[in-house]
Amino acid sequence: MPGIAVLDLGGQYCHLIARRVRDLGVFSAILPSDTTVETLQDFDGVILSGGPRSVVEPDAPRVPCAVLTDLGKPILGICYGQQLITALLGGTVIQQHVREYGLASLRIIESDPLFQDVPSDSMAWMSHGDTVTSLPPGFRRLAKTETCRFAAVADVDKRIYGIQFHPEVTHTQHGITILSNFVLQICGAAPTWNPASLKDKLIEEIRATAAGRKVYFLVSGGVDSNVAYALCAQALPPDQLEGLYVDTGFMRKNESEQLRQAFERLGLPNIRIIDDSERFLAVMQDAIDPEEKRQRIGPLFIEIQQELVGAIEHDHHNWVLGQGTIYPDTIESGGTAGAEVIKTHHNRVPMIAELAAQNRLLEPLQEFYKDEVRALGKSLGLPEDLVDRHPFPGPGLAIRTLCSDRHAKSMPHDGIAAICHEFRLHGCVLPLKSVGVQGDNRSYKNVAVISGPTALETLGQVSTRITNGYQEVNRVIYCLDAAVDLEALHVHDALLTAERLDVLREADALAHQILRDHGLERQVWQFPVVLIPVSHGAGIKAPNRGETVILRPIDSVDGMTAEVAKLPLPVLREMAHAIGQLPTVDLVCLDVSNKPPATIEWE
Ligand code: XMP
Repeated sequence: MPGIAVLDLGGQYCHLIARRVRDLGVFSAILPSDTTVETLQDFDGVILSGGPRSVVEPDAPRVPCAVLTDLGKPILGICYGQQLITALLGGTVIQQHVREYGLASLRIIESDPLFQDVPSDSMAWMSHGDTVTSLPPGFRRLAKTETCRFAAVADVDKRIYGIQFHPEVTHTQHGITILSNFVLQICGAAPTWNPASLKDKLIEEIRATAAGRKVYFLVSGGVDSNVAYALCAQALPPDQLEGLYVDTGFMRKNESEQLRQAFERLGLPNIRIIDDSERFLAVMQDAIDPEEKRQRIGPLFIEIQQELVGAIEHDHHNWVLGQGTIYPDTIESGGTAGAEVIKTHHNRVPMIAELAAQNRLLEPLQEFYKDEVRALGKSLGLPEDLVDRHPFPGPGLAIRTLCSDRHAKSMPHDGIAAICHEFRLHGCVLPLKSVGVQGDNRSYKNVAVISGPTALETLGQVSTRITNGYQEVNRVIYCLDAAVDLEALHVHDALLTAERLDVLREADALAHQILRDHGLERQVWQFPVVLIPVSHGAGIKAPNRGETVILRPIDSVDGMTAEVAKLPLPVLREMAHAIGQLPTVDLVCLDVSNKPPATIEWE
């Protein structure tokens, strides 16, 4: 299936480009920057992504020169991609110390198929440090902005294009038209990509990979593994497939039983439920760092599954492991050379790589994004409650229960307080770190906490001002209880315990029950509930050991970027009131950060 190759030059936002191409109905694959001309021959065209580095640096990522000189297919370089084309083909790029960041007026100065149906003046999003100052031989200038002479350039005969702005972000007014012109007109790619129509092909692939061997499929209850398992059930006879569901103890309230009943209703082959919660809790006992937690859960998960299969199967190599890995899981775990590891997905640990090397890994959905998985699931006839469920991460409540080994009070912050003051709010910083994603990199930074009466829209503005202005903070939370003394908040030491998990499980169940009661379930794409070891000094329930529960309702398309979901504040306060009754809960807050700079999950 031809399509567009997106070469990863170090940008998480490669995904955004790949997604936009797929939205045009054309298959796209993110490939490492050193992919060879031979591999790229299979595609209709190539996009070189943006990236955080400078082409002037000797070790910055590059593509083989032959991709530009010998491939003969259309190429579009975006931002860093444009600079790389320029540098490799003999033009000049200079390093600048000030980044141009924001909207710019784009003026087309030479018409070209790339700009078909794009007005001569429009707005485009710029985010770059380096700049092209002279073009390689054969290149012409197609567009400019006030500050950028070479906003779009091309060697029209060779169909090699470079643009300094970002067509993939929504701020660029005609970005999608420009991408569509490149993909459909210039590359001539056929818009035939439709995940639902791939069902028969996927079934064939499952049969080929299984090759008569028994498939043990890890189901988690999430959308991805539900759909992948249902596909396998259509591809394989019942005695060749068995679902394994490991109850880690990190699941939500009643989750295992609900899943068993749903599968039974659908007549899917039986799943074997294994309760190993004690072992998981034991291995996590002293883990505090979020990556450490993930690195402990993943291997234990596989170990348990291997023990299990080992106990059933006498021939230790004659079986295949199936799982519901999807495309972003692979990339976020550092699946391509340029991408930084944002987090290790528990289905991407070294033991899994070993199974893959032995051709004993079956991941039928590894090419798909979440919304494509849902479309596929619906075409398989799966009911909405299995396909439209909110995503839930494999390590579950274990990562949503933050741990700490320190005692520290909330910290005043003049800059943040000043921003809050403009909106008649109060604000300070909590000395508690959580994972975020800034630029193309993982961040692990403190949380700002704000309080005071206001509207949700204002909170969004304040949050963006804070995280844009102060890089030491990647997340902002808002106290849903009006009467909080921010100075009395403090972080205390806390590990992952059964008691803390129980508190979070109850809080999560209460929040989701109230969401359902108000008919708002479909208003949010996902709604993690999180426990952090932050107590209110005056707390009387568990003096100095109280907890804070965070509500994290978000809106997203595929989890790669996210906005705070606009739920009515009275409903959020109703949740806060109910959760506030739980033992040890001192405070309930709303996370008002977008992704980026925060991530959807807290960990
Ligand atoms: P973040 O926190 O990176 O999450 O913004 C993006 C989406 O990915 C989900 N997620 C996971 N899903 N295994 C999964 O199957 C994992 O280890 C994992 N970690 C995060 C998260 O819930 C969100 O939908």
